[in-house]
Amino acid sequence: MKNIAIFASGTGSNFLAIYDAICKHELDATISLLVSDKPKSKAVEKAHLLGIDSFVFSPKEYKSKTQYENDILYSLKERKIDLIVLAGYMRLIGTTILSQYPRRIINIHPSLLPSFKGIDAIGQAIQARVKITGVTVHYVDEGMDTGEIIEQEPLCIENMETREEIESHIHAIEHRLYPQTIKKVLEDLK
Ligand code: GRF
Repeated sequence: MKNIAIFASGTGSNFLAIYDAICKHELDATISLLVSDKPKSKAVEKAHLLGIDSFVFSPKEYKSKTQYENDILYSLKERKIDLIVLAGYMRLIGTTILSQYPRRIINIHPSLLPSFKGIDAIGQAIQARVKITGVTVHYVDEGMDTGEIIEQEPLCIENMETREEIESHIHAIEHRLYPQTIKKVLEDLK
């Protein structure tokens, strides 16, 4: 059984979708740790309710990224984490963690990368008046949403009228695509 760590800063709906896929035996893995830089986030609340261990930190209380990433690394190693799954984690991963988990950190992004990197990808797509956007799962490197693409799914938004409608379709794709992709990535791990 592979151990995964989920990194989240926000609502944690993808975290929950992954948890549900495990409960339904669609994904053979254990969520051994939730890492969050937002102590008051819904993701942290969910981890507590589900009885999942968490490493929660306030970046402001550290002198540097290297220092907090060293603490995260200790928690990851302690639990023998095989794969790091970013699910709305709003920070770039630094070399402290990247160097220890080559091709073992993945992220989900609400656009068809390389279009609309960074924050508010859905807003960027609306602003650009594209007819098609989508969801990407990719490996994480030192850049922002720049790593090798693993899976993508398009979404036609041409006839959608509100941002909420687009968001709800994007999230529905994410909640299905992320567990499926994690499954494949775990199978490919030696
Ligand atoms: C998702 O839209 C994901 O693509 C992006 O951040 C959002 C996280 O949502 N990276 P949630 O916290 O999982 O609900």
